[in-house]
Amino acid sequence: MKQKTYQGLTFRPFIESDSIQARVAELGRQISSDYAGKNPLMICVLNGAAPFAMDLFRALDIDAEISFIRLKSYEGTGSTGTVKEVMGLTESIEGRDVILVEDIIDTGNTMVKLEADMRAMRPASLRIATLLFKPEALQAPVEPHYVGFSIPKKFIIGYGLDIDGAARNLNDIYVLADEDGK
Ligand code: IMP
Ligand code: MG
Repeated sequence: MKQKTYQGLTFRPFIESDSIQARVAELGRQISSDYAGKNPLMICVLNGAAPFAMDLFRALDIDAEISFIRLKSYEGTGSTGTVKEVMGLTESIEGRDVILVEDIIDTGNTMVKLEADMRAMRPASLRIATLLFKPEALQAPVEPHYVGFSIPKKFIIGYGLDIDGAARNLNDIYVLADEDGK
């Protein structure tokens, strides 16, 4: 695997497609066993989580459903900073076993707000699945139940993760190289 360049920045290979797919298969088996006899609703947070959510969904061998939401951000007028509103959820999640699927949890600020919004809709249960998790960057009380890979506090692209809209279509995951190229 070769390095990639986006916006003049060098990215080096970090997690190969084969490892990603093996881990997704493992998570699929784990979720299938945890939710055996249930019909969980996976909710994919667009755009970044789309490849992971679809692969994970197809890795389930139980009855399951999938739906997609988008977070619209705008600057709040109060002291709360950026407010994120859930867009596109068309069905009721009341009484459902919901699994929120994200690409990455960095500070956790997005997920903590989303989780609260979802809990207010009274699902029977709610768990978080994230492909990537940066524990050292966490600033909010978020506890993802299913984690693909815990990674250092570095900037990642590929397999859904973007740099200004680019690189989502890479099948491997890349990390921003340090100045010494490591
Ligand atoms: P938060 O800091 O946990 O709220 O992360 C919010 C969002 O920032 C994630 O859903 C991603 O879209 C984006 N993000 C965080 N870290 C990275 C990264 O390393 N690469 C690309 N996007 C990222
Ligand atoms: Mg995201």
